[in-house]
Amino acid sequence: MRIKRTYCLIATFIFSWIFLLYFTFQNRPNLASTPNDSIANQVLEVDIRKLEDGIQEEFKKNKEMVHNLHRFMDNKKVAGVEIEIEKEKALGSDNKLSPHVLMRNKDPSGIVIPVLVFACNRITVSRCLDQLLQYRPDPDQFPIIVSQDCNDEQTRTVINKYIPQVSLIQQPDQSEIEVPPKEKKFRGYFKIARHYGWALNEIFFNFNFKSVIIVEDDLDIAPDFFEYFLGTYPLLEKDPTLWCISAWNDNGKVGLIDEKQSETLYRTDFFPGLGWMLNKALWQELSAKWPRSYWDDWIRQPEQRKERACIRPEISRTRTFGKIGVSNGLFYEKHLKYIKLNEKFVPFSKMNMSYLTREVYDKQFINAVYQSAVVSYQELREGKIAHDGPVRIVYYTKESFKRTAKMLGLMDDFRSGVPRTAYRGVITFFYKGRTVYLAPNLNWKGYDIKWS
Ligand code: UD1
Ligand code: MN
Repeated sequence: MRIKRTYCLIATFIFSWIFLLYFTFQNRPNLASTPNDSIANQVLEVDIRKLEDGIQEEFKKNKEMVHNLHRFMDNKKVAGVEIEIEKEKALGSDNKLSPHVLMRNKDPSGIVIPVLVFACNRITVSRCLDQLLQYRPDPDQFPIIVSQDCNDEQTRTVINKYIPQVSLIQQPDQSEIEVPPKEKKFRGYFKIARHYGWALNEIFFNFNFKSVIIVEDDLDIAPDFFEYFLGTYPLLEKDPTLWCISAWNDNGKVGLIDEKQSETLYRTDFFPGLGWMLNKALWQELSAKWPRSYWDDWIRQPEQRKERACIRPEISRTRTFGKIGVSNGLFYEKHLKYIKLNEKFVPFSKMNMSYLTREVYDKQFINAVYQSAVVSYQELREGKIAHDGPVRIVYYTKESFKRTAKMLGLMDDFRSGVPRTAYRGVITFFYKGRTVYLAPNLNWKGYDIKWS
């Protein structure tokens, strides 16, 4: 019992001693602390803060990475395409250049429409590229791909300066084309057709795009060029009676257009080209029988057109500056150089375009044309019409069409029997402050392929 008490006493003593010692040291003022130590502490604190910031930064980056990975996976699932496909290809015999095509699909629900620029040997392609880059709203949405034919070194050097804002592909087959003796002077048209065939195959079958906007290297671009195609894209997708959207009005000269009506668009049976959009389904159809030359007149033949129409604007969104080219410069001097390029930006993608679908448009169009008052060319020219609103000039024969068109300054030629800008035989234009229809009879039976 006594021994037990002694142990207890010793244990209590030891505990008390430890307790006392602990508190003495715990609460002891740091007499040893010197100014040097406080600097060291401050440095340490700064280091710790830096470490903390670093960790937070790292954390943020990881979060971003995970987010991006999710988006990548979503894109793959939704669009079925890779976010970024980099194609390195060595084309041409000298292998000097490795053109690459960079395609991005940032937004899976967004539309990606490449712009395919045809180039050959004109260094002025820079004028076209400068404007495309100036007005392009989004490089991911509108990748620009220049396709060069002709192997011209100087032109290639110019195009190379635009990489990576634009991509360059090169038409590899530079062999001499066999041309029928009578068509020797039209060799250029054979080369253009070969180039078109190759480049469109690349766009649709190699790069797998769903649609494309075609531009030639001698075209000026309007500020709302991209917006025009973006706004009309859904029409091309939905309406099977449409096969192209064109930026060009063949009769788009000052004096024949309403300069205040930048937003006005039409349907036309005449394929205008010169800045136009097509989709893959059409290329699948045309590529199988693509011609060796004169592709634009070939496409206008009934076998190809199959009564499909294009959309064209009141005021052109392109203008050609290619006075010297494969075709004769006379056409340029007489006509092309007078085409007015639109200046006012129209927000097409925010506008309702459904009035351009066939059912809606045709009904409204036929009504407007055939309810308008018939006038003679003389009355129109002399402004002798008492009432406001649209008027109609009637033509019955090829000759009367040509005569009236010429007097009014309209294009008077036909391709596969279709006059330029015609829709259901009717040429719509603006003259002396009013809309005018140069129209056949209401019982019109379709275009006559013999009219040329
Ligand atoms: C005309 C048409 C053009 C059409 C061509 C085909 C007009 C104003 N132009 O060409 O839209 O595509 O007929 O019938 O109506 N090119 C090559 N390889 C060559 C030569 C030219 O790829 O060997 C390219 C040019 O770079 C240009 C395009 O083909 O992008 C048209 O050539 P151009 O010289 O401008 O001929 P146009 O007479 O305007
Ligand atoms: Mn041209």
